[in-house]
Amino acid sequence: MGLQTYEINHIERLRKLAPECMVLLKSDGSFPLEVPGKMALYGSGSRRTIKGGTGSGDVNVRAYTTIEQGLVKAGFNITTSDWLDAYDAVWEEEYKTFRAGLKAKIEAEGMSGLLETLGVAMPEPEYSIPLKGEGDTAVYVLARNSGEGADRQAEMGDMKLSAAEIRDILQLAEQYPKFLLVLNVGGVVDLSPVVERVKNILILSQLGISVGDSFADVLLGKAYPSGKLASTWAAWEDYCTVGDFGELDDTRYREGIYVGYRYFDTVGNQPIFPFGFGLSYTAFSIEPGVPKMKGTKVTVPVTVRNTGAHRGKEVVQLYVSVPEGKLDQPYQVLAGFGKTRELAPGDKENLDICFEMEGLASYDEESSYRILEAGDYFLRLGNSSRNTEVVGTVCLEDTVELERVSHVGGTPDFRDWKPEGAKRGLGSIGIPGERIALHLSASAFTTVTYTAPKVDEEALALAKTLTDSELAYLCTGVFVDDETKYLIGNAGVTVAGAVGETTTLLRDKGIPNLVMSDGPAGLRLSRQYGLDEQGAYPLEAEEQEAFKELLPEALLNILLGIYPAAAGQNRNGEIREQNCTAIPVGTALAQSWNPTVCQECGDIVGEEMKRFGVHLWLAPAMNIHRNPLCGRNFEYFSEDPLISGKMAVGIILGAQKHPGCGATVKHFVCNNQETNRFNSNSAVSERALRDIYLRGFEIAIKEAAPLAVMSSYNLLNGEHTSQRHDLMEIVLREEWGFEGIVMSDWVPAGKPSADDKKYPRACASGSIAAGNDIMMPGGRKHHEDLMNALNNETVAYPLTRANLEKCASRMIAMAWKLAGQ
Ligand code: BGC
Repeated sequence: MGLQTYEINHIERLRKLAPECMVLLKSDGSFPLEVPGKMALYGSGSRRTIKGGTGSGDVNVRAYTTIEQGLVKAGFNITTSDWLDAYDAVWEEEYKTFRAGLKAKIEAEGMSGLLETLGVAMPEPEYSIPLKGEGDTAVYVLARNSGEGADRQAEMGDMKLSAAEIRDILQLAEQYPKFLLVLNVGGVVDLSPVVERVKNILILSQLGISVGDSFADVLLGKAYPSGKLASTWAAWEDYCTVGDFGELDDTRYREGIYVGYRYFDTVGNQPIFPFGFGLSYTAFSIEPGVPKMKGTKVTVPVTVRNTGAHRGKEVVQLYVSVPEGKLDQPYQVLAGFGKTRELAPGDKENLDICFEMEGLASYDEESSYRILEAGDYFLRLGNSSRNTEVVGTVCLEDTVELERVSHVGGTPDFRDWKPEGAKRGLGSIGIPGERIALHLSASAFTTVTYTAPKVDEEALALAKTLTDSELAYLCTGVFVDDETKYLIGNAGVTVAGAVGETTTLLRDKGIPNLVMSDGPAGLRLSRQYGLDEQGAYPLEAEEQEAFKELLPEALLNILLGIYPAAAGQNRNGEIREQNCTAIPVGTALAQSWNPTVCQECGDIVGEEMKRFGVHLWLAPAMNIHRNPLCGRNFEYFSEDPLISGKMAVGIILGAQKHPGCGATVKHFVCNNQETNRFNSNSAVSERALRDIYLRGFEIAIKEAAPLAVMSSYNLLNGEHTSQRHDLMEIVLREEWGFEGIVMSDWVPAGKPSADDKKYPRACASGSIAAGNDIMMPGGRKHHEDLMNALNNETVAYPLTRANLEKCASRMIAMAWKLAGQ
């Protein structure tokens, strides 16, 4: 089947959007090029271009353009085919050894070995191939991959550059008059060994299906990069080491609220490239107007003018230094931002950068109020966190207790770290001379009141007529077989390759089933499936082929059981296709600093959900970039909760514009590492939980009303998030008014197994009792657990019929909403 009209349309839209996600880190004016010509192309990402990371976030596409292909299509003459071939040979050889290592681990450790190897990316191999490409222009594409199940390593070939990369990049910078270092990465790499001597650096990121074409467009100036960093890029040694990362059992977030630039700016560490930074092919001036205040909303008008010689877009950022009082505060926090439209040389645009003072409130653990303390709030306007000027002050006359919230999330066994001499990092907080002062008193704020979310009485009435077992089916996914099969990403039955579904057993009672598919970098489905008189059946996919050589017989048999074609069942139905479009990864989207770009991507996915019959998209993923080594950071947006929240809002609105389609924000909450991911405990203070980790979710839920939330695998202060009534019912529903469903992450059912470390896995009974409505992907054991726990005081998590009815009624209401009555 050739490319369909919708595919062409989606690819064209993405090709235009993708440059907004690229960040130009250094430029000496050599680029863009005027015409295509001879090009010396090097580096692992040239031919092995990464469109998005691995794991459930990977989207099965028909094809995508690599950098090499994109450049050839654009008319470049690549003079380094020999180098690229030689590199391929090195890579293949190294990969064999790498796979053999994984296989040995799986053989020795069985299922737990498999779980731990799933996301492990091969480090960049060392090599030595002469750099002999012709032409005066060279591009080196440095690539990194990662994915769920494993964290990255602070080692050469991963977070750090390999010796071969350093050597070649430095030599190319000397050898070619025009040299561009391109970073085809989903997260930070430590650029310190090369950054001084390389004059042109572009974060291409991982941009999905159009990555190679979008790069060629930018290289030739048909498009231009306009992204800004959504997380700090620093030398590895300069990242915060106050808290733990990657502990097997308990990971203590001792750094509290000092995450990302909040840490760097407060202690005065110099990152290589700060949060919010990004250059342009052109130059801009930013002229602030007079800040205004209406009620508690602050507006800073600004005029942005393109003073250079190329088209471009600029991002204006407003940071606020919040006064310290009872609570310590970081040097500054992002309060608002805005991106211009495309400005031609000489063109200008007036923007209003706005924020609500309430958004700056901090959580006071002692009183459990969200408070704004009296004092001067300095407004800093600029185009990166380290390039701002103070444009005014909001003088808050008295401390405001905005909102009394509940104590939630438990208590860790430490007190948060506080930096010595906070705010001295970037110098004195005060500013000399005249400044515009806006005066605000506590009476301007309105008290927040809660309204209990509505209960769907009709759905509840139906739930009351169902048997206990039927209710338990509604609260577990449709997957009924062996607990291990979910691994292969095929726990759905209605749509091939969908990762989960709700029960199909109650259709005759008027409860349709719902189909769920990953995210976040597009819709993850099987690209091809078979259809015969018995219905749809999956074919053996390429990635499963890759599993074959890795798995010992017992595990392989499980896999073959799922793929009837491979198991020799000879079904000869018609082969159908589901071609989905890979969009940029979450980190790339956040780098656009443009919720409209996110909305367009959400819209593309929403169209494909409708086309293929998917009701819930398991995206956006919005955990905080707490540490650059988290293996799933590429799926997530940023180290900053405002950016995370606003980007998620765009994606949700885009996807949910399509009737019958819902977004699922995940992983709620504090899922910031992959090491021992089913059983690791994030120990976090209430302040950091409220001000950093919950905040992005709060923005997404309050401003975009996603239809679903996915709880996370990890524990929070000793209890699984799905089993925390305080998170499921109090925070989400009572405080934030969330009216959708909460599903668990894909938890392997059954007794705690050998791979469980100090803590057990989450269980169905504990989760449903807490208000996590459905246990995914389901399975006989989850169902048994619920039945066993019903009215049984002797089990760890007893369950009442009322608990089940409540969760089941929310599932029924969602099924009606998305799949019709
Ligand atoms: C991941 C989720 C994903 C789910 C279904 C889990 O392993 O953590 O993000 O949505 O699998 O594939």
